[in-house]
Amino acid sequence: MSDEKFFFPSKEVIEKATVKEYDKLYKYSIEHREDFWAEQASQLSWYKKWDRVLDKSNPPFYKWFTGGKTNIILNAIDRHLLSPLRNKLAIIWEGERGEVRTFSYYSLNREVCEFANILKSMGVEKGDVVTIYMPQIPEQLFAMLACAKIGAVHSVVYGGFSSAALADRINDANSRVVVTADGGFRRGKVVELKSVVNKAMELSPTMEICITVKHTGTEVYMENGRDYWFHDLKALPIAGQKCETAEMDANDMLFLLYTSGSTGKPKALVHTHGGYSVYISATHKMVMDIKPEDRYWCAADPGWITGHSYIVYGPLINGATIVMYEGAPNHPYPDRWWRMIQKYGVNILYTSPTAIRGLMRYGDSWTKKHDLSSLRLLGSVGEPINPEAWRWYHHVIGQDKCPIMDTWWQTETGGFMITPLPITPLKPGSATRPFFGNEMAVVDDNGKEAGICEEGNLVIKSPWPGMAAGIYGDPDRFVETYWKKYEKQGWYLTGDAAKKDEDGYYWIIGRTDDVIKVSGYRLGTAEIESAMITHPAIVESAAIAIPHAIKGNAIHIYAILRNDYKPSHELEMELINHVVHQMGPIARPEEVKFVDLLPKTRSGKIMRRLLKARIMGLPEGDLSTLEE
Ligand code: PRX
Repeated sequence: MSDEKFFFPSKEVIEKATVKEYDKLYKYSIEHREDFWAEQASQLSWYKKWDRVLDKSNPPFYKWFTGGKTNIILNAIDRHLLSPLRNKLAIIWEGERGEVRTFSYYSLNREVCEFANILKSMGVEKGDVVTIYMPQIPEQLFAMLACAKIGAVHSVVYGGFSSAALADRINDANSRVVVTADGGFRRGKVVELKSVVNKAMELSPTMEICITVKHTGTEVYMENGRDYWFHDLKALPIAGQKCETAEMDANDMLFLLYTSGSTGKPKALVHTHGGYSVYISATHKMVMDIKPEDRYWCAADPGWITGHSYIVYGPLINGATIVMYEGAPNHPYPDRWWRMIQKYGVNILYTSPTAIRGLMRYGDSWTKKHDLSSLRLLGSVGEPINPEAWRWYHHVIGQDKCPIMDTWWQTETGGFMITPLPITPLKPGSATRPFFGNEMAVVDDNGKEAGICEEGNLVIKSPWPGMAAGIYGDPDRFVETYWKKYEKQGWYLTGDAAKKDEDGYYWIIGRTDDVIKVSGYRLGTAEIESAMITHPAIVESAAIAIPHAIKGNAIHIYAILRNDYKPSHELEMELINHVVHQMGPIARPEEVKFVDLLPKTRSGKIMRRLLKARIMGLPEGDLSTLEE
């Protein structure tokens, strides 16, 4: 592994880099963690400065910048209005049909104020949870920013989730207001959103109001007193162009974001105004190396943590020009991205290994049609990037001159945890070393540090400002999931397996729990199996991840049928569609296989590990707990 040749950054990249040296600053940030973070926090605006940098009195519920008063909008918008950034482009958005909308920081502020006033007129108050279920259009951002501005808490649900999944999230958060659109465009087709919301609202006792943005022109059902068109509300005097930003405590909730775990229903991680702002802006500035003249494009969906931290909040706090799009990388042709990079002069591109592998298979002719020379830096996130995809990304897209920031992090961590800096010598497939302030390790089940290149559990040993404040409404689950295993040591369990090589570089292997990463999306086997069991043919099933050339992993299901059902191709298709209907298209299983038995431990737990080993012909490991 360590024989991999290092890739060294070009002179141009080094000259531009915000951080010129890693080791010394890393040492300082560990030995003087609170000073380091206080210095970062001082670069932001505060209504009132914090009293304490870190309150460790109630671990693992760490509190950062206690006593501080701020609002993420103060930093993401308000302060820019007082500087020349006021007239700089904040957002360049391109729709799937080629339409372009642009917003300066000044006009972004106006849009956000109007949206905020509309939410207020619907009775939304500080602390209320607003659900956002939107396509990738500017209004999705405006809705998020408007919530933050008035101190409401947004819960963005990815537009690919089903009505049942949306209703679960609405109900868990006790949300009364949902913001949606009639539909979105994807590969030339309309994805209906409002009709999904209508079904979810029927399943939700708390939902009262739905605001719908007209985007696709799809006909939708609207109910009097419950449903409002956004453009109608915008035309009313209530949507004034001025709105006060609410002064928030640093530890007040900013957003909830649902993510899958190994057991039970998805859980909502809570992020706050203070620590999160500091962490994502510092990481974004130092790693993505944003410069005033840059055009930055994170091609994720704003509905995931990558979008929250590194499309919306991090870049806006840093006063960047964000490129955003609606659609898919291969529609109308596989050069949509390359065309956009040339057209808008994108300097920094941040995406996922699945997208890279998907585009790589079309060959280089599509990239050669376009001038990609504006690119200076590339990024990757969501799953391990295989060296082959890394090299293609580096060579063909980055023209051998753009370093790849392979950023390892999670919904829970808020921002990058293990990541190169632009100056870091790179090894394809390694996320390299921890970001400043973070002590990480690879350890065995007892907490003993793994040897060089030995596989173990990846843990985080020290608190960081971007860390989730908890799981919404379920503090015990927060402790149980992340802090129980290494309770004695006080370490955070990431759920990933990793190795560390002799240069201190981390190599992420993948999840160790029952979480499956499909195209970088995070799904729990428990959720998939719960969806299966709602079909009358199913007695029991086990979902496992099998490696897939493009998606990283694919879902394979092993199912036991009720006696009165016979295995057939038709039934397999019906079950696959059933899971899609229950969860949404991202959870589409690759196959459903019918079996008579599932391997179980004596205590009745399905041994997914053994199932996977048998299917893939891998060593079966310790079978001492297997039921006869
Ligand atoms: O398994 C790791 C993988 O994605 C998980 C976190 O998923 P999620 O909360 O959805 O956040 C994704 C975007 C930050 C991690 O536990 N992962 C994320 N980034 C990488 C990665 N695996 C390998 N390399 C990465 N760069």
